[in-house]
Amino acid sequence: MIVSGSIDKVRKIIKKAKQQGKTIGFVPTMGSLHCGHMSLVKRAKKECGFVIVSIFVNPAQFGPGEDFKCYPRNLDKDENLLRQEGIDLIFYPKDDVMYPRDYSVYVEEGQLSSKLCGQFRSGHFKGVCTVVTKLFNIIVPDSAYFGQKDYQQAVILKRLVSDLNFSLKVRILPIIRDKDKLALSSRNRYLSEIERQSALSLYSSLLLAKSLIKKGQRDSNEIIAAMKKLILSKKTAKIEYIKIVDIQNLNNLDKIKGKLLIALAVYVGRTRLIDNIIVSA
Ligand code: PAF
Repeated sequence: MIVSGSIDKVRKIIKKAKQQGKTIGFVPTMGSLHCGHMSLVKRAKKECGFVIVSIFVNPAQFGPGEDFKCYPRNLDKDENLLRQEGIDLIFYPKDDVMYPRDYSVYVEEGQLSSKLCGQFRSGHFKGVCTVVTKLFNIIVPDSAYFGQKDYQQAVILKRLVSDLNFSLKVRILPIIRDKDKLALSSRNRYLSEIERQSALSLYSSLLLAKSLIKKGQRDSNEIIAAMKKLILSKKTAKIEYIKIVDIQNLNNLDKIKGKLLIALAVYVGRTRLIDNIIVSA
């Protein structure tokens, strides 16, 4: 396994793999890898002849006051995990390699980015679209792998690929949960024991919503109210949003119908957590 922060070197290695007829699988990450990331890595490994994982904590997608500085970083541990999976290449660029001093070009998606998390994290998806565009241009993968936990990110990146004519497949894989059903996230390590117990209400509230829909409830407001009640019964939880939306355009659905996404963002203590579920009515 090669670890490199050089764009030129990475391009050369990938060119050689392509000349050998290998398909290129790409898993973009910010490191601090957990089983959620590893499920993407394993799938890429299964489907592609040459697999690259990027590890880059992208400053452009963090807002002022967010956790860019303290975001967990652990290259040695990440490297070990990826070596065990037989990954071919880790792209680990420094900040000034991706964003040199005079950097001035950004990529912005104009419809989906202002919904859900976008209402609260101004500029976040512009940062994500910019870095992912750069990574796609450097690596030119055949397939790129993302998790459903960041569902909004995944649909925005699908749109980016289609609107900017990238020739690659975007694969979205299911959320991986811990034994207690908390969705895996690098930010879970910020939670105290008590906060973690409160955080379990996120998934319980999604399951509650699903069961209400299965029982015939069709009023989104009623469902959201029941979810809020459950989450707010936990003292350390503060809801940022709970939304029931169309799975494609992310528009709010007042009435439950068809296949829909229930998505939420909740602060548990100082940690912002997101989770979601897709339900068919
Ligand atoms: O999902 C993430 O970890 C990041 O948003 C991504 C896609 C690696 C871009 O920095």
